[in-house]
Amino acid sequence: MNHITYGMYSRDQSPKMNANLYGVHPFYMCIENDANAHGVLFLNSNAQDVTLHPEPSLTFRTIGGVLDFYVFLGPTPENVIQQYTEAIGRPHLPPYWSLGYQLSRWGYPDIGAVEQVVKRMAQYGIPYDVQYGDIDYMDRKLDFTYDKEKYAGLPEFMQELKKDGLHYVIVLDPFLSKDQARGSYLPYELGEQLGIWVKNSDGVTPAVGQALAPGYSVYPDYFNPKTADWWTQMCVQFHNVLPYDGIWMDMNEPSNFLNGQIPGCAHNNLNNPPYIPRISDSSLFQNTLCPDSKTFLGDLYDTHSLFGWSEAPPTFQAIKEATGKRPFVLSRSTFVGNGKYTAHWLGDNHALWEDMHTSIIGILEFNLFGIPQVGADICGFYYDTTFELCLRWTQLGAFYPLSRNHNAFGQKEQDPGVFGLEFATIARSTLQIRYSLLPYLYTLFFEAHAFGNTVARGLMHEFPADPQTHEIDTAFLWGSAFMIAPVLQEATRSVDVYFPEATWFDYYTGDKVPDSSHRKHVTVNAPLEKIPLFIRGGYILQTQAPAVRTAKSRLNPFGLIIALDEQGQATGSLFWDDGDSADTVENGNYFYARYTYREGHLKTSIVNNNYRGVDSLIFDTVQILGVASRPNAVVMNGKGIRRSDIHYQENGKLVVHLSVPLGEELDLILQ
Ligand code: NOJ
Repeated sequence: MNHITYGMYSRDQSPKMNANLYGVHPFYMCIENDANAHGVLFLNSNAQDVTLHPEPSLTFRTIGGVLDFYVFLGPTPENVIQQYTEAIGRPHLPPYWSLGYQLSRWGYPDIGAVEQVVKRMAQYGIPYDVQYGDIDYMDRKLDFTYDKEKYAGLPEFMQELKKDGLHYVIVLDPFLSKDQARGSYLPYELGEQLGIWVKNSDGVTPAVGQALAPGYSVYPDYFNPKTADWWTQMCVQFHNVLPYDGIWMDMNEPSNFLNGQIPGCAHNNLNNPPYIPRISDSSLFQNTLCPDSKTFLGDLYDTHSLFGWSEAPPTFQAIKEATGKRPFVLSRSTFVGNGKYTAHWLGDNHALWEDMHTSIIGILEFNLFGIPQVGADICGFYYDTTFELCLRWTQLGAFYPLSRNHNAFGQKEQDPGVFGLEFATIARSTLQIRYSLLPYLYTLFFEAHAFGNTVARGLMHEFPADPQTHEIDTAFLWGSAFMIAPVLQEATRSVDVYFPEATWFDYYTGDKVPDSSHRKHVTVNAPLEKIPLFIRGGYILQTQAPAVRTAKSRLNPFGLIIALDEQGQATGSLFWDDGDSADTVENGNYFYARYTYREGHLKTSIVNNNYRGVDSLIFDTVQILGVASRPNAVVMNGKGIRRSDIHYQENGKLVVHLSVPLGEELDLILQ
């Protein structure tokens, strides 16, 4: 709050503290002195800045648009986000496979390099669901093409990956080269005929910038319904060439290697307004188009920050049409409401310990913004990573809602198979934890979609009345119940973890964290192979035996982890559907159940039982943490469980093996 100014005007800018970045979210949440929270949205897309003062107060400055403020009264932080996403659009339910581990890089020289990566992952049995194609797959970086030499056989390769349960996501850039030989680049020629590009200030001639594609490029004006139709059609047709599963929308601030389009920006009030918010070092048109350019909705001066947002619905629609499945869209630039269509990654970070740490802040912020499927480039984008940084980052990244390793052209390879056996073994076991908790994570995503909940949250979010939680950006939670406390420093083998007032259990052992029912700092061991993880008493988590693909793990037996609070109680829920059909929630084709445990008795109440896929699935384990003494017997649905299937440990962890259908109401009693 110390007189910091945040500028907002979407910008291709590598993440750095307090800088104006790719997306625009003029929203804040405040925890008041009485621990109640409120949120404020300033729904305005013009270049703007907000200064925070210690009083506390905020100064909003915008250079255009409407002064539309929305206040969300909470009173809890979670209520604020539920209300906020009710207003702006609830996050989309991601396909289950997109919660698996994802691998990407810019600079796979050819298809052979990708094959090697897939092989390495298989050799070490590392869980992995998604492979990306960055601009390398394209012919001369042209959208809707692929390189028939270096990537010869790509369509067949993608089909092979599909058979193996992998998914392939392709990058697309929002600019089309205008300088290809006539008749050779139809997507551009068709768009040119339709007149669908962003225009110069004359409203007639296309704005011409320079981006990745060879020559000069024009920018689709996605606000124009004709552009949206053309884009959807191009993406759908391209699916007949490359059978992709998802689309990665890059560079959509929009980015331009020139400052303004050719021949530069005229000197006028739109391009050079009397006040320029703190959005870049120089001007409104640094590395983008001139603000006096014309879009279907008016001056780019007003609509610039909506560019990425306007690209989202037609891209989403295209995937739905092309694949017939639930879309996965990953967008760099985002605006208020983007979560309805897209996931987000935090952009071009660096392979630095500091960037790994600040990624947690970005992940928590985007959960407040209603875009819960978010992650940073694991191991770092720019710079060569190191063994230890990449290992610790793989451990942290295994718990990003979007878990994707990605790096830049010219950097060393950094997929988990490339560092040898020790690294691969640790990556594998950490990602197996992610995969075993995917039913819990997926349920959180359902609750985000249906009720507007956050998926990843800060400790402050759950414990607003505890001021010690307010500054914590080194640990975070999945939902209310699962704490991730990564190692964020080099050569460090322990973590200082703050436990707010609750019962906490060590994920690995089920040990109660000593005295954790009174808030306290504890130094926790974190040898290289371990990321500290904790479960909060009072909650029930659903698990499933992991596999190398979600397609396989989704068939495995489920488990419940019941972590008891001081009253011996816990609650939780499970959402399950086929994982990749569109609109399952809207159509009611899902299973959703609530689980309650009290006084030694676990009960299910099924809220929605309309997905028959649950009938072939079972629970095979129930773990209860914090059980005061060994029970004499355990009875499930009226039948006693064999003693040899009941294991009690002195730390209060009870493990019961059983076999009951997932879709049945459970009634388990400890006697
Ligand atoms: C910029 C993106 O942020 C990065 O992730 C990508 O690798 C490059 N563009 C190349 O497409």
